[in-house]
Amino acid sequence: MPVELPELPYSRTALQPHISAQTLDLHHGRHHRAYVDRVNAGIAGTELAEASLEDIVLGSQGSLFEAAAQAWNHAFYWQCLHPRAGDEPHGPLAERIARHFGDVQKLREEFNRAALAVFGSGWVWLVQHADGSLAIVSTRNANTPLTGTSTPLLACDVWEHAYYTDHQSDRAAYLRAFWRLVNWDFVASQLR
Ligand SMILES: [Fe+2]
Repeated sequence: MPVELPELPYSRTALQPHISAQTLDLHHGRHHRAYVDRVNAGIAGTELAEASLEDIVLGSQGSLFEAAAQAWNHAFYWQCLHPRAGDEPHGPLAERIARHFGDVQKLREEFNRAALAVFGSGWVWLVQHADGSLAIVSTRNANTPLTGTSTPLLACDVWEHAYYTDHQSDRAAYLRAFWRLVNWDFVASQLR
């Protein structure tokens, strides 16, 4: 059963003007698709041929791991966004954020610092540790919290392909756009 490229959970123009249709065409239609295609080429005829994407991430190394982790990270990232700009966290998620960061603005500031500090390509995550605490972590290149003990709640792709079309190399401008699009209901749904 090959791994499939998930459909975007919104139309290709839905995130404009913050993330353009051109960026989604490139990022989802070319980069994400290429990772999925590489996974399927890598698992064909192996013991992972019928495995879930999560199990492929956990059971592979090298270039297959990189492609599988990128396929998983991107599928998660698309779900972290939605077109209802200006949303704020509420309910139990807002209470957790207040407890661990003070407020959502402080979370954003810490997240942005981590995002701007990633040298080259990588990801920034809001995660829930096994003890229930929330934290900001960054991962290099394809690496993903999926291989650790923390639960990912929110992901930001800081590979340049995520923002070059819209913002050239201005990662800070991309982060401002990202925060306009965060799907806090999805983030809350990932809490354990
Ligand atoms: Fe990406």
